[in-house]
Formats: sequence, C-alpha cells, structure tokens
Amino acid sequence: MARGGAAAFSSAAAAFLCLWRLSAGIQWLGLPVGQAVAWNESQHCRLLLGLVPEQVQLCRRNLELMSSIVRAALETKASCQKSFADMRWNCSSIQQAPDFTPDILKGTRESAFVHALSAAAVGHSIARACASAELPTCSCGGVPDDASDASFRWGGCGDNLPYGLQMGSAFTDAPMKSRKAGMQASKLMNLHNNAVGRQALADSLETKCKCHGISGSCSVKTCWKGLQDLGSIARELKARYLGATKVILRHVGLRKQLVPKELDMRPVRDTELVYLASSPDYCSKNPKLGSQGTQDRQCQKSSMGSESCSLMCCGRGYNAYTQTLLERCHCKYHWCCYVTCKKCERTVEQYVCK
Ligand SMILES: *[C@@H]1O[C@H](CO)[C@@H](O)[C@H](O)[C@H]1NC(C)=O
Ligand SMILES: *[C@@H]1O[C@H](CO)[C@@H](O)[C@H](O)[C@H]1NC(C)=O
Repeated sequence: MARGGAAAFSSAAAAFLCLWRLSAGIQWLGLPVGQAVAWNESQHCRLLLGLVPEQVQLCRRNLELMSSIVRAALETKASCQKSFADMRWNCSSIQQAPDFTPDILKGTRESAFVHALSAAAVGHSIARACASAELPTCSCGGVPDDASDASFRWGGCGDNLPYGLQMGSAFTDAPMKSRKAGMQASKLMNLHNNAVGRQALADSLETKCKCHGISGSCSVKTCWKGLQDLGSIARELKARYLGATKVILRHVGLRKQLVPKELDMRPVRDTELVYLASSPDYCSKNPKLGSQGTQDRQCQKSSMGSESCSLMCCGRGYNAYTQTLLERCHCKYHWCCYVTCKKCERTVEQYVCK
C-alpha cells in the first residue's frame, strides 16, 4: 500500500515536472503588457518569470526589442483565438499564459500551432518595427538584387525580414536550446514548429506598390517588399495544423531525430507542423487533458463546417434562443455630406450546445 502510494506520488511528480519543463517554450507569451513595464532599464528583464537565462540576457542586451516582443505576444494570443473561433478547441486557454494547460503543454497539434504562430509573430513584429523606425539597431529591408523590372522603381521602406528572423529565432528558440530545457523530443518538436512558423512568415513577403502621377494615373510606381498581415500567416499555419504529422523520436544513424510515426521512413518536411501527442476531441470538460468542452458554445445550425451544431456539440444537441439586435437601417445620404439612419430591431435565432 505504502509502496503504491509512493509510486503514485512519484509518477504525479514526474508528470508535474514534465509539464513544467514542457511549458518553458512559450512562457514569454505571458510578458506583462501595457504600462506595467517601461522596458527602459535592464533590471526590468529580471522581473520576468518564465524567461530562460538566455532570453534574459537577450533582453538586457536588446532592451529596444522588448516592446516588439510584447506586441508579438499580444498578437499571437488574439490571432490564435480568431483563427480557432469556429473550432471546439478555441485557443482561449492561451490567455492564461504563462500558466498553460495540458492542451498546449503536452506536445499536441494545438501546441504545434501556437509555437509556430508565436515564432512567426515575433519575426513579423521586429521586421515591421525596423521599417517604422522604432528600432535603432536596424532599418528598412533591402531590395532584391535582380531588381531589373523597368515598370517600377524600388522605393519606400520594406519590412526587414532578415533582421526579424535573426532576432526572432534567437529569442523564441532560446528555451529549447537552454540547458534547462526538458525532454529531447519536445525540444525538437518545438524547434521544428518554430522554424515552420518563420518559413510561413518568409513566404508571406510580397511586393507592394504605390502609384504616383497625375490623378492616380500610375505613370510612376514605387514598390517595396512587405510582409502580409499576421492574420493571413495564421490562416496558412491553420491549414498546416489541419494537415500536421504525428512524429516519434528515432535513432537515425548516430543521432536522434523526429520521423513520421505512421507511413514510410521519410524525413519530416520543412513545411509541415509536427506533434507528439494525440489531442482529445475537446467535446467534454476534462482539465487533465486541457479540454474545456463545448457546452454553451455557440454553433451555426445551417453550416456544414467545424462551427456546425452537429460537430461543435458532438451530437449532444443544442438549445435555441432568440436575440434582438439593434441595427442601423434605411440610411440616407444627404448632399453634402452626411448620412442619417434609423434604428431597426432584428431578431435572430442563436444556438448553443447542450
Ligand atoms: C524609464 O521610464 C520610466 C517611466 O517612463 C521613467 O520614470 C524612468 O526614469 C526611465 N528610466 C530611464 C533609465 O530612462
Ligand atoms: C472558447 O471556449 C470556451 C470554453 O468552451 C468558452 O468559455 C469561450 O467563451 C469560447 N470563446 C469564444 C470566443 O467563443
């Protein structure tokens, strides 16, 4: 009996230690926001629980980067929840950062997405900050070498992708490279998914142009290289989340490497998100699995997608209620220049899962 108790205790302790170790990867998402920290004195870096020593050092040496990183943390949390608003797992647990729940801690697909998105967000935020002259250590991104197209000239200030990738990976990969970091498999998983996120960021770089000339005739066009919004990078990463590959750690020659669990022995592709642990279905509440369940979640009765009542409610059925919305209507334009509207009530049926 006593032995059983001790074994249970030590396995619980091991599980706890394991979670604690796994959590190290993205604890920086819990960085204090707003006016809480001014980020102008190097001792501010010590205030941050959850940063690994390498990140604290990076913070001290590059204090000017910290507001970009804090902004990236905010954008990651907002963008993740927006991307998953119509799914059973809706990323709401990310708000508890740096205290994550098992849905994000356990090497799941969801964790893969969050890591990739956060790595992309940091690179994005720094690259943009360079272009808007917020950082003394970098400036506009360069123009392509083969800039020979005569229909426009390069101008403006492009996002500095190389600097964003460089400083971003130094910061977001540090927890996995730290000596303190946890199990090898989860370290490799997080590093890989961070790289996938940065790859998606780099792929989003596009040529953006502005027309000049008499009344927008576009006789002169200046162009620069700019990154797409984080929202479209998140959409791309969500597609990769849906097609993510389950992997295991195997000896490949002398090294240990992540390889796809099912299928052949092909190597993992640079573009695919990988995960180690299968996710629960997130239908019912189970704190041990980090599942909040879908009771009381809104669903769409006529939809066929993940937000449909049948998928969202996992077959439990749903309750309908009517909601009265107040809207602007019968708007009229008056010359010149204002608009008047009436207020109309509209009732809509809403559905929530049982
Ligand atoms: C940092 O910012 C705070 C608040 O803006 C200010 O009170 C403090 O003097 C600043 N410290 C330095 C070293 O500039
Ligand atoms: C996300 O799911 C949780 C748990 O079911 C719920 O409480 C929350 O309101 C949901 N958030 C959104 C934006 O739907």
